[in-house]
Amino acid sequence: MKLSSATALIAGGASGLGEATARRLASCGANVVLFDLNVERGQGLAAELGPGVRFAGGSVTEEEAVLAAVERAQTDFGGLRIAVNCAGIATPGRILSRFGPLPLDQFARVVEINLVGTFNVLRLAAAAMQRNEPDEQGERGIILNTASIAAYEGQVGQVAYAASKGGIVSMTLAAARDLAQWGIRVVTIAPGLFDTPLLAGLPEAARQSLAQQIPFPSRLGMGEEFAALAEHIIANPMLNGEVIRLDGALRMGPR
Ligand SMILES: NC(=O)c1ccc[n+]([C@@H]2O[C@H](COP(=O)([O-])OP(=O)(O)OC[C@H]3O[C@@H](n4cnc5c(N)ncnc54)[C@H](O)[C@@H]3O)[C@@H](O)[C@H]2O)c1
Repeated sequence: MKLSSATALIAGGASGLGEATARRLASCGANVVLFDLNVERGQGLAAELGPGVRFAGGSVTEEEAVLAAVERAQTDFGGLRIAVNCAGIATPGRILSRFGPLPLDQFARVVEINLVGTFNVLRLAAAAMQRNEPDEQGERGIILNTASIAAYEGQVGQVAYAASKGGIVSMTLAAARDLAQWGIRVVTIAPGLFDTPLLAGLPEAARQSLAQQIPFPSRLGMGEEFAALAEHIIANPMLNGEVIRLDGALRMGPR
């Protein structure tokens, strides 16, 4: 997929890994529609990056809002070829605490945003991509999801988050198989620990301690490193149906 002539929808594009990906794709000449709940940050980033970047507000869990963002790609830029799923939440919660069992709605909310939201963007983006003319490789689109290494090594207090990210991992090959007949690829990145606003709330000592658990390089990952992999995945048509860990060899312990 050639980035210079493509339009990307980036869900969760107003912050962190999504923002870094938006900056990278825009710098490669792609048009970008940022889709995010955070209107202020999304509008600010779109204004900063210029006329090739637009913002559409809403939640990944809402059909109408995602459809409107997909249509924005069509009306403003003539079509959608790339969808990047970066929207997500990481609300912690143990199964049993002094307050009793983890409330079901707390578990369901994390799964609803991270897993169902990712699928919502995937299916609506795929429906739009299906109408694209194939490029010279026969490709109509690429959908890039974000899981987490918590899908494999969920820590204490991460039961909902790990389940939601495990769902994204399992969905990847099935979705790639479903969409192969239209020349639409599906690839997932499973990041380790990245320095984004998601981790910024932690005290510096906790951030340092997390970084030291990473074999090499022993530091938090940078958004640009995630974005560089996203760019490569988009460009390389043989990458399909795969989940790629991006974690400096980190294997998380129980806590
Ligand atoms: N930072 C890390 O270390 C790390 C590690 C593994 C996986 N991840 C995953 O990467 C993704 C991006 O995380 P990040 O670190 O950039 O976090 P972030 O909080 O900086 O960015 C997440 C963005 O998603 C948006 N968002 C949240 N819920 C939404 C919804 N319902 N609809 C639309 N937008 C919504 C937020 O407004 C925010 O702009 C998440 O899925 C996260 O689980 C992050």
